Amino acid sequence: MNQFGDYQNEIYFNGLRGIKPSLPVNFKLLEERASAALPQSVLSYVQGGCGDESTQRRNVEAFAEWGLVPRMLVDTRVRDLSVDVFGKRYKSPLMLSPIGVIGACAQDGHGDIATAKAAAATGVPMIASTLMNDPLETVAQALAGGDAFFQLYTPKDRDLAASFVRRAEAAGYKGIVVTLDTWLTGWRPRDLNDSNFPQLRGVALANYFSDPHFRTRLAVPPEEDIAAAVQYWASVFGQTVTLEELAWLRSLTSLPLIVKGIQHPDDAKRAIDVGVDAIYCSNHGGRQANGGIASIDLLPALVAACGDVPVWFDSGIRSGTDVVKALAMGASMVGIGRPYAYGLALGGTPGIVHVVRSILAEADLLMAVDGLPDIAAVRAAGVRRTRP
Ligand code: FNR
Ligand code: LAC
Repeated sequence: MNQFGDYQNEIYFNGLRGIKPSLPVNFKLLEERASAALPQSVLSYVQGGCGDESTQRRNVEAFAEWGLVPRMLVDTRVRDLSVDVFGKRYKSPLMLSPIGVIGACAQDGHGDIATAKAAAATGVPMIASTLMNDPLETVAQALAGGDAFFQLYTPKDRDLAASFVRRAEAAGYKGIVVTLDTWLTGWRPRDLNDSNFPQLRGVALANYFSDPHFRTRLAVPPEEDIAAAVQYWASVFGQTVTLEELAWLRSLTSLPLIVKGIQHPDDAKRAIDVGVDAIYCSNHGGRQANGGIASIDLLPALVAACGDVPVWFDSGIRSGTDVVKALAMGASMVGIGRPYAYGLALGGTPGIVHVVRSILAEADLLMAVDGLPDIAAVRAAGVRRTRP
């Protein structure tokens, strides 16, 4: 039986034939390599965050404060990382978090398609951002058997929101992930100092420019006057999602509805009352609000508040070890963000596949060593503070 940890042997055996992995297996070196390779404007957009970036640093550092206690005398020769997501079995709880400029991270500008292909190759679902370089239908075609969820940025125009949801349904997306924390952009010094905001340069707006409803609002099509189309986009982009707005979105679709950006247990409860199917604990990787608390530190209280409703998680995941800790703290699904953007930048679809395989191999081998044969065992084991 194939196991994720087999990637380790594959790498070592390749070494016997003089072949080393083309990309590093750990985040630190991956980021270093990507920093040297990416155009400065793309790098600063991906790597940067809000304010002095202390929340985004804390997202990562906080994982070191939580630890797992190994158990022995357990047979873990076979590990099962599979999870049930809205009635479908996935081989692992990993997912590719939505990244709005992922298109531009690829050398050919088609990073959304490259990500879809990686989702297909790995069985790890993609969460496709509203902000894509290729229309959501084209990206869905590249999935070829893989799965994707559609992440919705709610526009101020409800007809446009409805059009996006209809298109996502028709294209076969498995659910709608509504992001709550980004109806406007947080204060990002790196981008501000370079006056660099990709969307205003027309990057990642393909879903808008291809949308029949959006196009009816323009005097001339985007192909003829991109500046006017971008300007209209900027005016229509961010609708704050109130409870009323969320209830309306709920009434719009029978697809699973997931709300991303929840950090407070009471907000989770209010969203559940409206009928959402999952809560997505995330602080947007520290890109939106600085002065916060590491997302992982807020996860346990959210899980406790959500009862049977699954809690998805991202923000700060850099390794398979982080994934296992998040699961132990109650996450049902765990998203990676920046790591796969760097994998894509350096190696296209195979680069993302390598990052995903490395993270899953590390998680799998950790579970093997720690006496945790499956996710239920991970969750039952929990974590402890590494320092009292
Ligand atoms: C994001 N994220 C994001 N989230 C979302 O809901 N829609 C989006 O379009 C984007 N765009 C985006 C662009 C870039 C460059 C980054 C780095 C992130 C947030 C993303 O889904 C996720 O929450 C974070 O990436 C998690 O933080 P880490 O682990 O990547 O630091
Ligand atoms: C960001 C937006 C696109 O974080 O979500 O850059």
